Amino acid sequence: MSARVGRTRRVLAATAVAVAGTLAVGLAVAAPSSAAAEPTLGQLAVAKGRYFGSATDNPTLDNAPYTAVLGSEFNQITVGNTQKWQYIEPNRGRFDYSQADKIVEFAQAHNQIVRGHTLVWHNQLPGWVNDVPAGELLGVMRDHIANVAGYYKGKVVHWDVVNEAFEENGTRRQSVFQQKIGDGYIAEAFKAARAADPNAKLYYNDYNVEGIGPKSDAMYDLVKSFKQQGIPIDGVGLQAHLILGQVPSTLQQNIQRFADLGVDVAITELDIRMRTPRDAAKDAQQATDYRTVTNACLAVTRCVGITVWDFSDGYSWIPSVFPGEGAALIYDENFNKKPSYWAVYEALGGTKTTTTTTTTGNNGTGCTATYRVTGQWNGGFQGEVTVRNNSSTAISGWTVKWTLATGQSLNQVWNGTLTANGQDVSVRNANYNGSVAAGGSTSFGFVGSWAGANPVPAAVTCTTA
Ligand code: G3I
Repeated sequence: MSARVGRTRRVLAATAVAVAGTLAVGLAVAAPSSAAAEPTLGQLAVAKGRYFGSATDNPTLDNAPYTAVLGSEFNQITVGNTQKWQYIEPNRGRFDYSQADKIVEFAQAHNQIVRGHTLVWHNQLPGWVNDVPAGELLGVMRDHIANVAGYYKGKVVHWDVVNEAFEENGTRRQSVFQQKIGDGYIAEAFKAARAADPNAKLYYNDYNVEGIGPKSDAMYDLVKSFKQQGIPIDGVGLQAHLILGQVPSTLQQNIQRFADLGVDVAITELDIRMRTPRDAAKDAQQATDYRTVTNACLAVTRCVGITVWDFSDGYSWIPSVFPGEGAALIYDENFNKKPSYWAVYEALGGTKTTTTTTTTGNNGTGCTATYRVTGQWNGGFQGEVTVRNNSSTAISGWTVKWTLATGQSLNQVWNGTLTANGQDVSVRNANYNGSVAAGGSTSFGFVGSWAGANPVPAAVTCTTA
């Protein structure tokens, strides 16, 4: 069947009511895209000379759907918890690498580089460290670094050597290291790390230092003085635990000024939290924010990569620390890609070619529609939608709907019957492909026109007859 979407046609009222009812009871559960051709964030980042990674923690390594994404989508892993002092040296001089090793081995098995996190931090310290006499703490700190960075020599590419040493006003945090060793403890930590692993890139890492302000100024002064004194430092980590709509306007400028000092910059713990629940407007803002952060990093040659602080909203630290907030990451709890994922994907140079949405039919059956651009040329494109019956019951008919972007139109549809109302299009099965067995699939194709851009629809709905 062929049709032109410039003309407005009326969708049968009865059908519209039935579909509306179906959508109202439908499950908004998206299935994974069936298209295998799309590059991963890690692959796209490599093409830009960067990495794109995720933090992870040990409990999730047993979760197969989680590790399927972790192992394939990212080319860098940060050890989220189990390289911290509390886990690695729970008793003085007794080192336990068993938990952290599991993450490092996972990364190695999936060709992912590892960021070590973290050698010296005031938090997640075992109690005994606080009780070390002042005169012994420098030696204890050096021993810890020598052991841990030495053990992971050649396996950890970037180390967060010292984490979160400044207060918001730029003064030193009064940690046990600051109080018992004094201002020089940071330099001593970096020297010990260099001695233990001369090839690892050594970073100072902190939060609320993404924009220019008193805290990032203090970090700037630290790096500058290290450079002047020849104290080894290779980079700064901007954690980037951000709030929806509040990406600092000076982010790129700030990254650039550290690069100009002669150090690398990494976005080390990115998440962008919102008041929950999510909605379309918040998702759109979050996508904008993720795009802004990614673009800021890409704009500065020495910004080497971005790491999200875990990738799925189901495995984020945010809800337990900020009640009523969350949804801060790029995959939802069910490992579906969010608009924030696609914003990063496109910022890294990817072209989105598929959208998959699942809805459930009135009779308990359901179908999935996967929209895919199969070819594109100047002003035109060809696409295909696969309709899959994802229930255990056969279906006898289906309808797929989406909204065309401005400048897009459909010129021809085959293996389906097109109805259009302005930019809203609806394709019903042809009389020979409405029946789909449980677990089976069918497809229809189309040729269309575009002007300006040819985005895939944000949502495609599939309803059963
Ligand atoms: O392992 C215990 C478990 O045995 C116990 O049952 C459970 C009960 O609460 O606690 C578990 O420990 C928790 C640990 O994470 C592992 O899940 C701690 O309570 C919890 O405080 C700890 O939180 C971590 C937090 O650092 C500690 O400050 C988060 O997972 C971790 O994501 C977070 O990461 C930090 C970075 O290291 C530095 N930058 C900020 C970032 C977010 O806070």
